Amino acid sequence: MKRRIGILTSGGDCPGLNAAIRGVARASYEMFDAEIIGIHDGYRGLIEGDYQPMKREQFSGILTIGGTILGTSRTPFRNMRVIGEDKVDKVAAMKKTYKDLKLDCLVTLGGNGTHKTANLLSQEGLNVIGLPKTIDNDIYGTDFTFGFHTAVDIATDVIDRIHTTAASHGRCMVIEIMGNKAGWLTLFSGVAGGADVILIPEIPYDIKKVAKVVEGRAKSNKGFTILAVAEGAMSKEEAKLKKKEREARRAAAHYSASADIAAQLQEIVGVEARAVVPGHIQRGGSPSAYDRVLSTQFGVHAAELIRDGVFGVTVALKGNEITHNPLQEIAGVPKPVPADSQMVNIAKTMGISFGD
Ligand code: F6P
Repeated sequence: MKRRIGILTSGGDCPGLNAAIRGVARASYEMFDAEIIGIHDGYRGLIEGDYQPMKREQFSGILTIGGTILGTSRTPFRNMRVIGEDKVDKVAAMKKTYKDLKLDCLVTLGGNGTHKTANLLSQEGLNVIGLPKTIDNDIYGTDFTFGFHTAVDIATDVIDRIHTTAASHGRCMVIEIMGNKAGWLTLFSGVAGGADVILIPEIPYDIKKVAKVVEGRAKSNKGFTILAVAEGAMSKEEAKLKKKEREARRAAAHYSASADIAAQLQEIVGVEARAVVPGHIQRGGSPSAYDRVLSTQFGVHAAELIRDGVFGVTVALKGNEITHNPLQEIAGVPKPVPADSQMVNIAKTMGISFGD
């Protein structure tokens, strides 16, 4: 029996998307009679009917390549049911494309927003399977998302490189790591890079406590300080504000978490401080070996689910096992770093300050 599979990548890209696409495709071709339709730029392509029937050879040679061969876009979940000026009913349009293409299932590779829309489509009667990707590692129900470990490697390399120049100049270096809502990437790369201070959104900081650490190191024979700061790190005062107010304040002042913290430390402690923002470099380039393996495992499991007719789920890693969770149980559920988690405690035991 032939199975027609639609596949799309949605939301911010990350290394490992192509490896996962390849995993789904190769395992499907191996296990059953598969026809694969590549949908362009995530849900935009599904809404607008923008796609291409894929040939087997298009999945060859992409294991090591970053980005996504299908393209991606951000189509916010909150707008999916909203009919805008273009008068397009997006949910109806996606269902129509699925029906017109005579798909047996839709495989969606994405993060939190992608999973919310995948769940919506599943509840609308489509056969959907999700694959959890994001450098933020904030998808509920899976220990790790693919893309995360590559980003940890990249961010750690940034911290390593900053370390040497920080030591030469005796400076305080504030490195801004991606992650607006979740601090996983900052926590892991901060520990791996030997940061002195780690600031994450889940643990609001007191700038005076951070300043104390910087002052202590400035006076010691070390003389320099490395801070790994998440994009979404916030002070205890900022934590009291509503998210919108906090964002508006930052936007109005044109400052990022790292620029703000560096300026304050320079003023309070009187040290030379610099902010470093590696930004999208953390999402670019070839996936690490770990992510190539994880993406392949996830892709193969998705193909097995298609073979077995199991839909309305997303693939997950639990311990050492590749498994899956019902979409409705994980969609929209946040996965922040627990402030009392073992990893945070390990970092604290190592003398790393969280400014709390
Ligand atoms: O979700 C991945 C991520 O890289 C976040 O860490 C970051 O806050 C956001 O995407 C950046 O989004 P954009 O690529 O749209 O600037």
